[in-house]
Amino acid sequence: MPETPIYGPGRVPVKLVVNGQTHLLNLLPSETLAEVLRGELGLTGTKVVCGMGDCGACTVWLGSKPVYSCLQLAIDCQSQPITTIEGLKRNGELHPVQQAFIADDAFQCGYCTSGQVMSMAALLERNPDPDEEAIRSAVAGNLCRCGAYPKIVRAGKRAAEMLRVSKEREAPGE
Ligand code: FES
Ligand code: FES
Repeated sequence: MPETPIYGPGRVPVKLVVNGQTHLLNLLPSETLAEVLRGELGLTGTKVVCGMGDCGACTVWLGSKPVYSCLQLAIDCQSQPITTIEGLKRNGELHPVQQAFIADDAFQCGYCTSGQVMSMAALLERNPDPDEEAIRSAVAGNLCRCGAYPKIVRAGKRAAEMLRVSKEREAPGE
């Protein structure tokens, strides 16, 4: 039978790879990934609103999967790379989803926005040509209390189109 790891009760060494950088930290086993990202690493683009898995504001990627970082213990995130909104840009440019959210003005207060963007960008990684239903479903776990949904969906469509055009430029004639 595999042994159950015993952590704590005090601080324990934890290695997290966030946005391509390795961080060696001493953490309480009870600290959530959201707390560590914001409090220890200063990555405050990840927002915490409900802190209990209801709103999706805290969405980051664990590997390529969007997760609620308020529900993940940091100590359990050592095996996979973590990506936050700060790590989404490529070659110094905002990710197409970030660009599309700006172009479509797809936010009001902005508290849900980084979570929405992380969920939408994860969708486009696995499905570069999503229909409206797929876009809505990808952000179904990200609540927007300002009601910016129509523009968020429009931004998703725009981002998919931007990615399609840039892929065609990279591989003309294919
Ligand atoms: S803050 Fe994590 S789901 Fe709301
Ligand atoms: S923009 Fe305010 S909660 Fe979505």
